[in-house]
Amino acid sequence: MGDDVDAHLLEQLKKLQAKYNVMGQDLSSYLDGLLYSDYLTYWDYIRLDTLLSLQSPETSFPDEKVFILYHQITELYFRMVILELEQISSRPNIDEQFFIDRIDRIIRYFHNLVNSFDIMVVGMEKEQFLKFRMALLPASGFQSAQYRLIEIGSTDLINLVSIEDRERLKATDINAMLEKLYWRSGATELASGKKTLTLQQFEAKYNSTFHDAAVRYRETNLLQIFQRNFENSERRDEIVERLRLYDRLANLQWRFAHIKSAGHYLRKNQKEIKATGGTNWQKYLPSRFQKVMFFPELWSEQEHEDWGKSVMHAVH
Ligand code: HEM
Repeated sequence: MGDDVDAHLLEQLKKLQAKYNVMGQDLSSYLDGLLYSDYLTYWDYIRLDTLLSLQSPETSFPDEKVFILYHQITELYFRMVILELEQISSRPNIDEQFFIDRIDRIIRYFHNLVNSFDIMVVGMEKEQFLKFRMALLPASGFQSAQYRLIEIGSTDLINLVSIEDRERLKATDINAMLEKLYWRSGATELASGKKTLTLQQFEAKYNSTFHDAAVRYRETNLLQIFQRNFENSERRDEIVERLRLYDRLANLQWRFAHIKSAGHYLRKNQKEIKATGGTNWQKYLPSRFQKVMFFPELWSEQEHEDWGKSVMHAVH
């Protein structure tokens, strides 16, 4: 038994030595390091102290922490979605199973986001929310760059162009389309029609990031990968079913859940309270106006027509 272990250890040492030799490294020094280093702990591994130090409210209303934490949770899920998109886009010779498994993961992440959004709608005291949000101007979830990267990684850029420019810009280059993305047109000031400060700051920080992403995903976004590899696959139906579900979750159900929170807090006795990002949110946020879908080819004419018109359509 003892000899067995030693033989096994020896074998491992030989493999390690070979590994370190290749890089011109001295294994013995690394083993010294192992001897002196501490055991890994859970809290260090997941950087728990750092994570729990990242909630810095602007006011002393306790519910502001609920608001911050839920945004952070959402951004972490967004990160997970992006990691799946990156895996898909960089996979050489991608096959059906790999694609399906990753889309299923994305679907799970979005399910969780949709199902948890009530934390925003009913999980905070309205009186507190309406006060602390004034200290957050002009910041808005609108400025979530990861949300935009998910969009860019999921579909052709043209499908993210504002509805009134979509037909006209079909055969244009990336820059022309980036100029006219639906959210740029959405973020105009109620009163003057000018770009909101929220948008100006967002553009200054992230324009080049979005340009790089548009180039990276031009040929490797989900829609492109589907059309190039699986349009004629035997498993086409399974894949289409999942892509449609993802589209519904991201562009109908998440948007509905989100707008419910805007409606809950920003509508008072039929009057609108100004949004933190200064948009005409009632005209801008609803799916039935934006008509953003990642996979328009996978929806019938009637479904296009009905997009975002009813909550029932979104939920089922
Ligand atoms: C009480 C909760 C919330 C309210 C009242 C709210 C309100 C709004 C409003 C009014 C807008 C329009 C832009 C503006 O004028 O600011 C907006 C946009 C947006 N918000 Fe929220 N929001 C809430 C929570 C969240 C959360 C938790 C996220 C997650 C990151 C989020 C992400 C976004 C995104 C991505 C947009 C842009 C949507 C688009 O371009 O279609 N929001 N929100």
